[in-house]
Order: sequence, then C-alpha cells, then structure tokens
Amino acid sequence: MDCDELSMALPRYPNGPKADPMKPDYANPDFWDARFQDTEGLFDWYATYDELNDTFEEFCPIKSHCEDSLLVVGCGNSAFSAELHGAGYQHITSIDISNSAISKMKQLFDRPGMTWQVMDATAMTFDGDSFHLAVDKGTLDAMMSPGTNEFAGAMLEEVWRVLRPEGLLIVVSHSGKRLQLLKSHGTWQCLEIRKCRLSPQATFINMLRCKLPPGAPLKDALQQPQLLQEAAEEAKQALRRMAFLDAFRIFKARKQAQAGHIQEAEEEPPGEAGEAVSNGSNGSDPRRQPFCWIYVLRKVV
Ligand SMILES: C[S@@+](CC[C@H](N)C(=O)[O-])C[C@H]1O[C@@H](n2cnc3c(N)ncnc32)[C@H](O)[C@@H]1O
Repeated sequence: MDCDELSMALPRYPNGPKADPMKPDYANPDFWDARFQDTEGLFDWYATYDELNDTFEEFCPIKSHCEDSLLVVGCGNSAFSAELHGAGYQHITSIDISNSAISKMKQLFDRPGMTWQVMDATAMTFDGDSFHLAVDKGTLDAMMSPGTNEFAGAMLEEVWRVLRPEGLLIVVSHSGKRLQLLKSHGTWQCLEIRKCRLSPQATFINMLRCKLPPGAPLKDALQQPQLLQEAAEEAKQALRRMAFLDAFRIFKARKQAQAGHIQEAEEEPPGEAGEAVSNGSNGSDPRRQPFCWIYVLRKVV
C-alpha cells in the first residue's frame, strides 16, 4: 500500500463531534492535510529540541539510549524528529495522518535510521512493545480541540500498546491539566510535570495572534509594522521571563538530585496559567502564555 492508498483508507472521523466553525478544525485530518499541502518549510509547535533537550537528557540520555527506538506521534512538518536524530538518537519513526506532511518530510530527511509513515495514531499498525520512547508534541492537544477526549484517549491507548514495558512517553502540551486524561488511558507512572519555555518562533506567533482580530490570517500582520514591532517586544519580554524561571527550575532540580530526592508528580500543579489555557475562564488570553507543559510518563504493566 503506498502513501496515497493508505491515506485514503484512514478514518476521517465521520461521526466525530463538529468543531466550532470559528476555530481551525484541529481534530480533522483533512484540515491538516490541506494545511501541509499549502505550507512550505518547517514549523514546530510550542518548542524545539533546544527547549526540550534537558528533559530528554534527564530521562533518556543519549549516551545510554542512542540505540533506543523512538516514536514521534503526529510529526507534522516539525524539525523535531530530525533534531533528535541529529542529537544522536539513531532509530526514529515519525508518523502523521497527513500524507502531504509525510511525503514532504521524507524528501527533506531521507536519512538512515529515520522512518516516516502515514498512520493514524488512534489505530497504529505497529506490533505491541515496539518502542522504548514515544513523543507527542501538540497532537494530543489537536485531537482534543472539538472538546472531546475520545480521539485523544484512543491515541493514548495505542501509544501505551506500542511502548515496551517501562517505556517512556513524553507529552508536550499547552495545558497543565492533562494528567487525569493521561492516567485514564493505559497504566502510567507519572515521573514529571514541568513547564517549558516556548520557542522564540512560537512565542512571537502567539503574540501576533493575540493582536490580530479573531480568525484573521497571520499574513495580515505583515502589512502592519507597528503591530509586528509590539508583538516582537512582548515576545522578547516573555522569553526573558521564561529563561529566568527555567534557570531557577534547573537549579532547584539539581539541588533536589544532590539531596537524593526523587519527586514523583502525582498532582497537577494547582492554579498555574495552564488553567487559563484549558478553559480560558479567568479572562486572560491563553495565547499570551509563554510556556508549555511537559509530562513524562512511564508505562507500567
Ligand atoms: C499541532 S500539530 C503538531 C505537529 C508537530 N508534532 C509539532 O510539534 O510541530 C498536530 C499534528 O497531529 C497530526 N494528527 C492529527 N490527527 C492525527 C492522527 N489521528 N494520527 C496521526 N497524526 C495526527 C496532524 O496532521 C499534525 O501534524
């Protein structure tokens, strides 16, 4: 079966909930395919390997895990898989439901040890226990956008199935309120929940989006130099703030490690800005949040 046939055979969620017509239809595979057809180049949601590498080094250091098999779930046109490979992980399989995304990535990164496959993350064709580590950056969030957990739950169960016992799942999300969902699909031990600064590119785009009228395309900002300048200044400030908080977190983690204190995160951090992201109820614009959340989970059997 080639990419086109497989893509045709993939489910289009015919009976899925209808998304808000004012918002991008992130849970609809057709939305993504159309988007990747029209997009050139690479784009990473939330964060790049630069922002995430300390988490990888802490939980699956390249030195001892370079031979592990990694699964990137919903890779889109992100440089992340290639960055992981460049950093030293040698076996990386990246899947996405979008045929356009996968064929572009295959052309760009046709490297030994990197495999690209069109595949629905809610119904994977891999054997059980195939991977040591799975990474999701933004795909779980996309699946939850119509306000249901149905697809996200199916994806998590699949990830759990294809991971080896003790295998790790790293989820990068805009929300600090995902633990309950994660824990209700598969048996996981939560090793860590932490904030991570957004990449400069993602921060700048978020700031631009806040300034544009709802639904306006980003390219509208190009005709407004004042707006671009304000967004750049706000992004700079947000990045400075997050760099400071990051340095503090790393310092604290080192101190805890020196004291032999291993903390298992069982509860989600209360009252954080992640709350605003999940429900927007406190009136602040969640897109101004200059960080995302990282969850590190271990498959328990
Ligand atoms: C928010 S984007 C994140 C892309 C990439 N992980 C990143 O960090 O830039 C969500 C991705 O999930 C993919 N996706 C959506 N539903 C999917 C599914 N059922 N199976 C596999 N991929 C899916 C989309 O095509 C898109 O590439």
